[in-house]
Amino acid sequence: MRKKVSIVGSGFVGSTAAHWIASKELADVVLIDIIEGVPQGKGLDLLEAMPIEKRDSHVIGTNDYADTANSDIVVITAGIPRKPGMSRDDLLNTNFKIMSDVVGKVVANSPNCILIVVSNPLDAMAQAAYKISGFPRERVIGMAGILDSARFRAFIAMELKVSVENVTAFVLGGHGDTMVPLPRYSTVAGIPITELMDKATLDRIVQRTRDGGAEIVKYLKTGSAYYAPSAAATEMVEAILKDKKKILPCAAYLNGEYGIHGLYVGVPVKLGAKGIEQIIEIKLTPEEKTALDKSATAVKELVAVINV
Ligand code: LAC
Repeated sequence: MRKKVSIVGSGFVGSTAAHWIASKELADVVLIDIIEGVPQGKGLDLLEAMPIEKRDSHVIGTNDYADTANSDIVVITAGIPRKPGMSRDDLLNTNFKIMSDVVGKVVANSPNCILIVVSNPLDAMAQAAYKISGFPRERVIGMAGILDSARFRAFIAMELKVSVENVTAFVLGGHGDTMVPLPRYSTVAGIPITELMDKATLDRIVQRTRDGGAEIVKYLKTGSAYYAPSAAATEMVEAILKDKKKILPCAAYLNGEYGIHGLYVGVPVKLGAKGIEQIIEIKLTPEEKTALDKSATAVKELVAVINV
């Protein structure tokens, strides 16, 4: 049977995710939004590109949640994006209201789906979706670490003038200013980057990674990044639908792992057909652990505000 992925929000992140998913022929795609006409128009436009792409993914746009029924995965991108000068946290109350409305409707129509949350502030919105859905933690996953790691990898590849394919990197923690890039676990063709660049260069790249979202917002002025965020969500969709058992950094609900209880934080997880199939605990140095705890505290402050 064909797989079905619904994407809530037909803005730049949602429609670009639809584009990646359809062009990789991962599933049929339903693009849903409250705005009338936009999801229908973008969905039809994308459907009409399929003969050129030689893909048979069926794409529709809709305002009716009944069309999302029995989705295997629902990607939630709904919410307002940042404007210059705003932090992701400034979106909290508005996007929580949107999330509360959306998750109820999604769950009513696709009680067995896996939720991938992309809306900001990411970790708090993932926690909201988890609590509202009543789903087990395996089936509510936040997208952030793949995006933050991709930025880190892109900057490392640019600096060392090597293929991005050679670069692996991990960014842990919340998707915010306190995120924790881990140079020790970042390699170029297996060689730790700490052996390939000096500390000043590495520090500069780590800071650019932390500010990666804001750097794009500053250029765009009216919105935030969407190519890399939607590509990151698509990598999660692919890992799940193909049951790849792929280790990726994602926001997951921790129940004592890393000494953190009852909170969404970015950690390495194994993604397969069941969603999160394992939370991978890696050894952290005392400094890294302190940075992760600081990041978790920042997430905790946000979830306290919305009481989830
Ligand atoms: C970013 C926003 C989308 O990191 O969180 O680009």
